Amino acid sequence: MTVRIWEHCRAATMQPSVPYGLVEDAAVAVRDGLIEWAGARKELPHALRDACIQLHDCGGALLTPGLIDCHTHLVYGGDRAHEFELRLGGASYEDIARQGGGIVSTVRATREASEDQLFCQAARRLRELADEGVTTLEVKSGYGLALEHERKCLRVARRLHGARGVSVRTTFLGAHALPPEFAGCADDYIGEVVRMLPALHAEGLVDAVDAFCERIAFSRAQTQRVFEAARSLGLPVKLHAEQLSNSGGARLAAQFAALSCDHLEWLGDEGAKAMAAAGTVAVLLPGAFYFLRETRLPPVGLLRDHGVPIAISTDCNPGSSPCTSLLLMMNMACTLFRLTPEEALAGVTRNAAQALGLADRGTLAAGLRADFVLWDAKQPAQLAYAIGANPRRQTVIEGQVQ
Ligand code: NIG
Ligand code: FE
Repeated sequence: MTVRIWEHCRAATMQPSVPYGLVEDAAVAVRDGLIEWAGARKELPHALRDACIQLHDCGGALLTPGLIDCHTHLVYGGDRAHEFELRLGGASYEDIARQGGGIVSTVRATREASEDQLFCQAARRLRELADEGVTTLEVKSGYGLALEHERKCLRVARRLHGARGVSVRTTFLGAHALPPEFAGCADDYIGEVVRMLPALHAEGLVDAVDAFCERIAFSRAQTQRVFEAARSLGLPVKLHAEQLSNSGGARLAAQFAALSCDHLEWLGDEGAKAMAAAGTVAVLLPGAFYFLRETRLPPVGLLRDHGVPIAISTDCNPGSSPCTSLLLMMNMACTLFRLTPEEALAGVTRNAAQALGLADRGTLAAGLRADFVLWDAKQPAQLAYAIGANPRRQTVIEGQVQ
C-alpha cells in the first residue's frame, strides 16, 4: 500500500461539525487517489505513517477541499464587450436580448467557430479557474441551439475533462434562448430540444439538463417539457430560475427534484420551501448580479430559514458574467449578498458538489476523492477576504500534485 501524507496543516475539512470543520495541526493521508484518513496529526494511525512513501510538510498552511465551480458557460465564441458599452450607455440586458443581441449574438459567434477554436478559448478559461484552485467544473452548452452546434460545444466540454487535472461535468442547456430560425415558434424549438437530448445523451455527452425559465426565454410549460424528456432518460435537472422575475421556475424544478436552481434574485417563500423539501441547492451568482448592475438581492435569509444549501459560482459567460475568478465570487457573495466567509467556502466546496450531484467530493473526509488545495493563508476567511489576490500554493487532484 502506497500512502502519501500532507501534515502540519490547518485543515478546513468543511464537515459541518465545527466552523469550517477546522482541524488544527491536521494530517491527510492519501491512497489510490482517495483520502484514506483525515484528522488531527497526533491521531494518524501508525500503519499509515509506516506505509508513507511521500511526506508533505505544509508548514501550518491552510488546506481546503478543491474548489468546485458548479455553473459555467465556459464554451462560447466571441465576446460581448460591445454590449457592455451599450449597457453602460443606458440599454438594459433585456432590451439588448429583445433586439436580437444578447445570447443570440454569442450563438452566431459560437456557430461560426470550429471545435478546435472553441477548445483553445475554453481551455484558457479553464486554466484561469484552475490557477485559483478549481478542481471540478460544470460546463453548459446553450450557445449552439442546433444539434450539430450543441454537440460541438459538449464535445469541447468533454475534451476539457482532465486538462490541468480538472474534472468536467457537462450540462445540456438547449433551452437557453430561442435561435433566430425559430423566431415566434418557441414551442416548436422546445420540440427540437426534446429531440436533440436523446441523441446527445446516446453519444455520452450529457450529465445533466438545464433550461432558462424567464420571460425573455422559456415558459414554465416549455421548461416542463424539457424536464420530462430528461426524466425519461434518467438525467438530473437544474434550472436558471427567478433571475429577472418570479416566474415560478423554482417550484417547477423542485417537482422534478432538481439538483439546483440558479440565480434566484426573485425567489419567493413558496419557491424556497419547495426547494428545501426537494433537497435542491440554491446556486447564487454574484458575478451576474454585479455585471448586470442588478439591485434585487437573492433572499439569503429565506434560504437560511428554510435550510436550503447555498452554492456560489462564477456563471462564467460572455454576456452576464465574463468572470474566471471563483475567489472573487466568494468575496462578492460576502460583500454583495452578505454571506459569511464560511458560507462562501461551503458554497464552492460542499454545497457546490451537491449542486452537481457529486457525493465523492466537496469535503475532506475518508473515502472521498483526494482533491484539495494548499493555500498561503492561515485563516479560511482570507480566501473570501482578499480581492485580486491568489494565495494558492499547491493543488492536488486524485492524490496527484498538479
Ligand atoms: O446565466 N441567464 C441566462 N444565461 C446566462 C447569460 C447568458 C448570456 O447572456 O450570454 C446566465 O446569466
Ligand atoms: Fe448561467
